[in-house]
Amino acid sequence: MESLQKLIHQLIDSGELISATLSQRRKRDPEGFTKVVIKPVELKKSLYYQFAYHYSNKVTHENIPAAEVERPLMELFEETMRQGLLCTADADYQILISKKYKVSILTKTATKTQADLNHNRKKRYILDEGEPVPFLVELGIMNENGKVLAKKYDKFRQINRFLEMVQDILPALPEGRELTIVDFGCGKSYLTFALYHYLNIQQRRPLRIVGLDLKADVIEHCSQLAERLHYDKLRFLVGDIADYNELDQVDMVVTLHACDTATDAALEKAVRWGASAILSVPCCQHELFAQVQNDELSPLLSHGILKERFSALATDAIRARLLDLMGYRTQLLEFIDMEHTPKNILIRAVKGSAGDQATLWQEYTVFRNMLSANPYLENACRDLLPQAAETSKA
Ligand SMILES: C[S@@+](CC[C@H](N)C(=O)[O-])C[C@H]1O[C@@H](n2cnc3c(N)ncnc32)[C@H](O)[C@@H]1O
Repeated sequence: MESLQKLIHQLIDSGELISATLSQRRKRDPEGFTKVVIKPVELKKSLYYQFAYHYSNKVTHENIPAAEVERPLMELFEETMRQGLLCTADADYQILISKKYKVSILTKTATKTQADLNHNRKKRYILDEGEPVPFLVELGIMNENGKVLAKKYDKFRQINRFLEMVQDILPALPEGRELTIVDFGCGKSYLTFALYHYLNIQQRRPLRIVGLDLKADVIEHCSQLAERLHYDKLRFLVGDIADYNELDQVDMVVTLHACDTATDAALEKAVRWGASAILSVPCCQHELFAQVQNDELSPLLSHGILKERFSALATDAIRARLLDLMGYRTQLLEFIDMEHTPKNILIRAVKGSAGDQATLWQEYTVFRNMLSANPYLENACRDLLPQAAETSKA
């Protein structure tokens, strides 16, 4: 291990490391991460290394200051992972660690360039500053020269972050035909316009988007803006999510900060349409707060503020697991949003298998029963949860 430690020290100390990918777990663990991807990132003008831990159904991130990164990186090799690829502009180093901890280091031709490093260090956005984007100008986020207004910078970052999350799931969307997207509870629709611009104008995907909201005045305003921008395939309608029956087939459902169980109504619609992708940022999760009961959790539940936060997290865990049970692979990601709450959770689900359904269901029912929860989404989708039908028959 000494030769590896020396190499890691040299690459970190000189700032040469462009990326590291660690794989091949020493001991199999279905709950554990299977890969770790490490890259330098600039945060608050300092160099950090971002560790992305890849699990079967999610990716978690940890940013570690450059000065402290050697130890956790070495520990991953010492305890968990048996293979690694460390990339610099001069060479790639392939690391192989035997069962008996014998280390081999193979030096290979570089596959990454310095440009990759610069790219990582200076964040590039999907919508770049300096180039006027008509909808951002209309919404007062940029001026006509493409300069982002100082007080709108958070919004600009948030729109870009959202688009990055959409970018990640592009391969899950059908190709070769017009996409249909619905944004439930679209409100002022900053992100609906962003989605249209990104998919239709930047990515040249034929599509139509429907934005639905209860508020007639907001919908009127959004419709006028869509007209001014000549976004011909973006329509805004007044209506309640639960009553929306206009379409038979939808490819992607977006629902951002729709209040309480309005999110569940949107998720139910998405699942029944068989949408290929769902992006949902829940908000005001009150339902479980009124239901949750468990004497063993009394130290937590007896404090209103903790009960509220716990109920919100448990609600999202329930939603994610129910989506997994209805044919989706679901991830929970951090979504920074200055307008509503500083930090939110985004539920991102794409069609696919999340794993053994019997185990998922078993874990779900134990969790739901432990909390005495009676979730809207489970009740609304009972017919789509075959295990539920079997259990209620038993
Ligand atoms: C907090 S705003 C979020 C707006 C926008 N999606 C965003 O993230 O900026 C929530 C919106 O959801 C709408 N909404 C809440 N319940 C709804 C329902 N049942 N049907 C349609 N819209 C709903 C509200 O009118 C409001 O405009």
